Amino acid sequence: MKRQAALSLPRQPKDPFYGFFQEETATHVPTKDLLQFNNARRWLKSIGWHSRNDYYLYQQALESKSGPEVVLNDQRFIMLSSYDYLGLIGHPAIENAAIEAVQRFGTGTGGVRLLTGTNELHRELEANIADFKGTEAAITFTSGYMANIAAITGLMNSQGLIFLDEYIHRSIIDACELAKTPYKKYRHNDTEDLERLLREAPPNRRKLIITEGIFSMDGDRCPLPEIVRLKNLYEAFLLVDEAHAFGYVGPSGRGTDEYFGIDPEEVDIWTGSLSKTIPSNGGFIAGKQQVIYYLQHGAAPFFFSSALCPAAAASINEALNVIRRESERIQHLEQNTNYLLRGLQKLGYNTGQTDSPIIPVIIGEDMNTHRLTRELFAHGIIATAVVFPAVPLRESRLRVCVTAGHRKALMDEILTVFAKLAPDYV
Ligand SMILES: Cc1ncc(COP(=O)(O)O)c(C=O)c1O
Repeated sequence: MKRQAALSLPRQPKDPFYGFFQEETATHVPTKDLLQFNNARRWLKSIGWHSRNDYYLYQQALESKSGPEVVLNDQRFIMLSSYDYLGLIGHPAIENAAIEAVQRFGTGTGGVRLLTGTNELHRELEANIADFKGTEAAITFTSGYMANIAAITGLMNSQGLIFLDEYIHRSIIDACELAKTPYKKYRHNDTEDLERLLREAPPNRRKLIITEGIFSMDGDRCPLPEIVRLKNLYEAFLLVDEAHAFGYVGPSGRGTDEYFGIDPEEVDIWTGSLSKTIPSNGGFIAGKQQVIYYLQHGAAPFFFSSALCPAAAASINEALNVIRRESERIQHLEQNTNYLLRGLQKLGYNTGQTDSPIIPVIIGEDMNTHRLTRELFAHGIIATAVVFPAVPLRESRLRVCVTAGHRKALMDEILTVFAKLAPDYV
């Protein structure tokens, strides 16, 4: 395997493949090979092309903590695509909680939650999440992806019918497939289309509507009050994925229900990630006590997959306490969001319908988006490109995420670079 040659230009990306794709033959798949199928061939070709042409900017291995500024190739970069919305990565109280947890409980739990993997930290954490979210109870998993798999496979089967917003996250689609529950998609945030589907649904089916609080690729929010009204009218259940909303949406960060002034119990199941605003790893389901006790025995990821490690459980727990103590971070995030969003809009960039710190900078064609990402990188800014199939064709974009940690001087630096590049992209 060839290693990457030393590059002389400033701010070159690292080659995460150590030169593997520098020869075009690396993308050829022999007949009868394990990778002899369309999807694999397509991916290898695409990775190889981007890698050889210096456009592969994914998987850049940082040499520092993530945060508003990071180190890569011994150089300083501004991070503009982190989900650390409240700037909590590196918070001393959260780090200390993790260190103390390792010293008391070790690095692993030695088991799955149902059997021997539960310790006092998990108990405390689940009570804390339920209290924060305003539900009767909560249950945790090792990721938000797992929480969605657990919720949907645990609660639905082939007799049900699921209604999905067309922009719903991949973990939910995978969960529906795994649960063998048929699903129909309604147009993004279009409650008239959702109502049409609900009206046409066979009356004897258990119906579940699934949406996201804040949509991960567009940064807009779901019209929760209207969706709650429809779920009640058509006797459906409702699951809201708060992966990108939990911790900073609403005055105290409770989420989409707090933003709209809705009782959290109006939603049957809340799911979320603990690796975005909450600077750790993990996922949760929050809802009624009876549902949670059932899921401890009816959701496979609780008894066929390992428990959250002690460092993660303790850091999540402390992060929730920090958000309660330092709620001014939520206001800083809002101010920063307005500043950067208005700045980009003034320069003429298309930022879609965002209503949150996720600011899509919609460019359109994949190649232009990759080029802009590369130019920003050369100027010391990391902003990831999101292309088809993660977003619709010809809606490729940068997914810019602003955090409470971006100081004004940093945002001005960002806007100066975007202004310089604007003539080619707006
Ligand atoms: C809407 C949504 N749900 C679930 C997940 C999965 O969360 P996790 O990264 O904790 O697995 C993500 C991840 O980006 C997401 O955007």
